[in-house]
Amino acid sequence: MKILLATHNNNKKKEILDIFKDNGVRDIEIVTLEDLGDYEDIDETGLTFKENAFIKAHYGFNKFHLPTIGEDSGLEIDYLDGRPGIYSSRYSGLGNEANIDKVLNELKNVKKEDRKCNFICTICFIEDKVTNYYIGKCYGYIGYERKGNNGFGYDPIFMIDDNSSLAMLSEDEKNKISHRYNAFIKLIDYLKDYSK
Ligand code: IMP
Repeated sequence: MKILLATHNNNKKKEILDIFKDNGVRDIEIVTLEDLGDYEDIDETGLTFKENAFIKAHYGFNKFHLPTIGEDSGLEIDYLDGRPGIYSSRYSGLGNEANIDKVLNELKNVKKEDRKCNFICTICFIEDKVTNYYIGKCYGYIGYERKGNNGFGYDPIFMIDDNSSLAMLSEDEKNKISHRYNAFIKLIDYLKDYSK
């Protein structure tokens, strides 16, 4: 079975293929928009993760008529009423390091108990007659400073316990607890039944 992952980011393809393989799925080929020579920007105009995931999946399915995954992720901080949320990648408007600085600044005098947060991944899977959604989360709290050099985005300030940020984990370790992992194992369950 061939599935289109409606993204231009080929790193995501590797991460998701690894999750598929680790969970015994070997008969699915994943292609990205880039693999199909499509470089068009998809306007993420949705107001929720679900809407943005649908926009991506719908774009891919309409254009290529393949079962398509649209995925949207971000960071939600309780104290900030869920911000940065769908605006995670463009929170400061000045790039990733400035996004982190903005969050640290907004939580400057906030005590640890109030720094709870989660990453969320919402998947929309569209094929002929079905549009399904799967949500995965990863819980932690926002640290007081950057820690670790791995990962990307907000990983250096996303603490999974008092000693470790996500950026201190190896790729393999992170990929077993991440919001994307927790969403994709739900899709995998569906696909296993579907291909029986
Ligand atoms: P995307 O929808 O996966 O492109 O994620 C949007 C934004 O959310 C990214 O640019 C990051 O700022 C943030 N984000 C999503 N997933 C992660 C993660 O695993 N670690 C750190 N930041 C993330």
